[in-house]
Amino acid sequence: MKNLSKKLFKLKDLSAILADAQHSENHLKKVLGPLELILLGVGVIIGAGIFATVGTAVAGDAVRPGAGPALIVSFALTAVACGFAALCYAEFASLVPISGSAYTYAYASFGELVAWIIGWDLMLEYCVGSIAVSISWSSYFVGLFHSLGFDFPAWSTLDYRSAFQGFNKAVQLLNTGTPFEQITPALQKAWLAVNGAPHIFGVPIICNLPASLIVLFLTIILVIGIKESSKFNMFIVAIKLLVLGFFITIGAMHIKPENWVPFAPNGFAGIKAGAAIAFFAYIGFDCISTVAEETRNPKRDMPIGIIGSLIVCTIIYMLVAAVFTGIIPYSLLTTSLAHEKAEPLALAMQHINLGWASIIVAFGSIAAQLAVLLVLQLGQSRIFFSMSRDGLLPTMFSKVHKTFKTPYVSTIFIGVIIASIAAFTNIDEMIDLTNIGTLFAFVLVCFGIIILRVKEPHRHRAFQVPFNPIFPLLGVASCVFLMTSLPMITWIRFVVWLIIGIIVYFSYSIKHSVLHK
Ligand code: ALA
Repeated sequence: MKNLSKKLFKLKDLSAILADAQHSENHLKKVLGPLELILLGVGVIIGAGIFATVGTAVAGDAVRPGAGPALIVSFALTAVACGFAALCYAEFASLVPISGSAYTYAYASFGELVAWIIGWDLMLEYCVGSIAVSISWSSYFVGLFHSLGFDFPAWSTLDYRSAFQGFNKAVQLLNTGTPFEQITPALQKAWLAVNGAPHIFGVPIICNLPASLIVLFLTIILVIGIKESSKFNMFIVAIKLLVLGFFITIGAMHIKPENWVPFAPNGFAGIKAGAAIAFFAYIGFDCISTVAEETRNPKRDMPIGIIGSLIVCTIIYMLVAAVFTGIIPYSLLTTSLAHEKAEPLALAMQHINLGWASIIVAFGSIAAQLAVLLVLQLGQSRIFFSMSRDGLLPTMFSKVHKTFKTPYVSTIFIGVIIASIAAFTNIDEMIDLTNIGTLFAFVLVCFGIIILRVKEPHRHRAFQVPFNPIFPLLGVASCVFLMTSLPMITWIRFVVWLIIGIIVYFSYSIKHSVLHK
């Protein structure tokens, strides 16, 4: 028993972690600098959160109130919470500049079992987050083509559940005499999907093909190489920043200050609910730490990359929130967004009668989400790589491609899994799960900082979280607060996922762990 607990909580020595990575045959190329890291961060942070969920954050939905024009406060609140976690990530990344993010940090501060749990948990952030964003990307992609006059077959753009739920509602309405043209476009699409689906052995084939194909396309880009991926990311980030800059500039000319009154129509409850939704928009700054091993000067550049990208995104989000809520009256937002799944920022452009501008914004949204997907997939493959190098996952996942120098087996494996699930799942289920997994990882990282300051006080830290342990504790408190705002079903799924992880650990990982050999 004593032996077992020794094994489970055996810490990986920091010097050993650094030496292992240096001597390992499986090296990654060191090609990234501070600007590339900030752009990588902006690439993964700004995505579905600002382009899509911002509508729900402002207007609320059936189960929660909206923030209204006070969304700007929600963004600021969430930024503060993420800021504490970002500082902790930055200290860890400058201390342990090794591929693997929170997983590697946990190995050094809590021992193997917690490291495994966090690595397993991070799959929720990276894999499930990728699934959610790919589904969202697909609907904007299909929507943009629709507004340009081209429609994909409905059965190839939906998941089963959404299709059959919508189909049943559509049938109910049609049975009560509502004409087909008068049911909402979303229900029409579901009806067409079920009726038009091809059958194989009597089973209707309904799947979200664009979501799968985009994931597979990015998988190929990632296998070809990190430098190439980074260039590709910079290109998309440029488009994204131009489009958001365009939205802010054009929108600012049409702001009516009276739309900002009342500022917080649902009081603090609305602001809080908005902040919980806005959290999704910030997910991603931590991904930067997953490429520490590919960074030229990680001790200096990691903190710059992580905190810099968080600051850039917060400024952009607050400006977008101010413009968005200044253009459309709150009362109109609550009615429009309740019935339409339109992109809120495109809706704002339509509201000021700039149809052409709404197409530009829709295009930007597609590019933005593409960049998010790229970095999420990149982060997941690097975590698999690290876990495999430690023996907790089969060794094939740490194989590096001879020519491209990328962990190609884990990249392809992750890509195929995400693509397969994205074809058949519903986005709503994925978002909350992503949030809980990410928040849990943040909590452990914040605790890890406090522990390592006690255990390894003299180790050189190029960057230190100020006011330790107050700031890390504030990080823990704010993340737990956001976690408690998530629904019970999300907690159940989260716990089930962790239990499966523990079973895998005891049946495979503990026996193959390099640390125990
Ligand atoms: N922050 C990322 C997004 O908004 C996950 O899409």
